[in-house]
Amino acid sequence: MKRVFVNGYGSIGSRIAQFIKDDQDVEVIGIGKYSPDEKVSDAISRGFRVYVPKDKIDSFRNFEISGTIEDAILNCDLVIDASPGGVGYANKKTLYEPINARAIFQGGEKITGEKAVSQIIFNSRVNYDKVFDKQFVMQGSCNVTGMGRIIQPLKEKYSNKIKRFDATLLRRWADLEDSKTEVKDSIEWTSNPHHDEDVKNYMGAETPLFVRVFKIPTRQMHVHLMDIRFTSKAPTISEIIELYKNEYGVATLYGVKGTKDIRSYAESIKFSFKDTNMIHIHADLIEVQDDTMKITYSDDQTGIVVPENHLLMQAMLFKRNREEAFKHTEELFHMEEKKQILQAHFRK
Ligand SMILES: NC(=O)c1ccc[n+]([C@@H]2O[C@H](COP(=O)([O-])OP(=O)(O)OC[C@H]3O[C@@H](n4cnc5c(N)ncnc54)[C@H](OP(=O)(O)O)[C@@H]3O)[C@@H](O)[C@H]2O)c1
Repeated sequence: MKRVFVNGYGSIGSRIAQFIKDDQDVEVIGIGKYSPDEKVSDAISRGFRVYVPKDKIDSFRNFEISGTIEDAILNCDLVIDASPGGVGYANKKTLYEPINARAIFQGGEKITGEKAVSQIIFNSRVNYDKVFDKQFVMQGSCNVTGMGRIIQPLKEKYSNKIKRFDATLLRRWADLEDSKTEVKDSIEWTSNPHHDEDVKNYMGAETPLFVRVFKIPTRQMHVHLMDIRFTSKAPTISEIIELYKNEYGVATLYGVKGTKDIRSYAESIKFSFKDTNMIHIHADLIEVQDDTMKITYSDDQTGIVVPENHLLMQAMLFKRNREEAFKHTEELFHMEEKKQILQAHFRK
């Protein structure tokens, strides 16, 4: 059985650990904590062994700690790093590279320049089998993952009939559980966003994608407005809906008034962490005008990357055939079932 260590237990790490612990093919040997706070007890109560940095062990004396992060990394086959953006690079240098450990990094890291954690970004829809033998791989961020789910089916079906993709990303300000971040009454913009370069990393540098990014005062998901220009007449709305009908992790919903509607419904029917783990195309907002198709979808910021990490883990640890890996992920995440439930509730 392969041994996995989840280094970081925040919004993303806690979700990954919680889902992957039910995978019979791996043993989650534990999680890494850096602050001696209530989340240590939370992790222990959920059955996880907690490991802490060697030089901080004294500050955890009031908790039942299982050992040091340094030792946990020595004893596993794969680290899933879920540290704050940029910290993954420091971990790569100080913890993983010196002992030749293999690691998955999250989307807050870089793939170019001096602080690159990896050469490749993973997207299960596009490059599942390109990561089998890699030592380090970065899972795309939630926005980067969501854009792949929309763009790849379009590229496959319409390829050279597409002129460009123009996306405006409305990013949530903070996560649901993030009580430390104040949600300011402001709209901020991001100069030089990383999102288009990240998508091009796994989809090809020639992808004509142009992205603008705004941060808006909400904790309830991201919304992407994407305009797709075709060389001649754009497809019809029903062709577009049909295109995404069988896409994994893509639900097509009607009558949603805002992202909180979806989150509240997910909570009411007890989806884990209130996550849907997918993107939601808002069908009544799709517009087609001559050569342009306009599509709007929301992207479950924390949930979407968690099954992706599970797929990436299977590719790196088992080189599992893609179809089997998706089947196995489905057994843990029930994404098809969730999609059907959401589509039945938010129907035409
Ligand atoms: N949140 C999202 O919606 C989202 C979506 C997709 C991708 N991501 C990416 O996922 C990564 C993690 O984000 P997050 O939202 O989960 O952050 P977060 O909630 O702030 O959690 C970060 C965690 O990292 C731990 N940590 C601190 N120093 C560390 C170190 N040196 N090594 C390992 N872990 C350390 C923290 O531990 P203590 O609490 O013990 O200090 C905390 O548990 C980032 O790259 C982010 O860009 C986030």
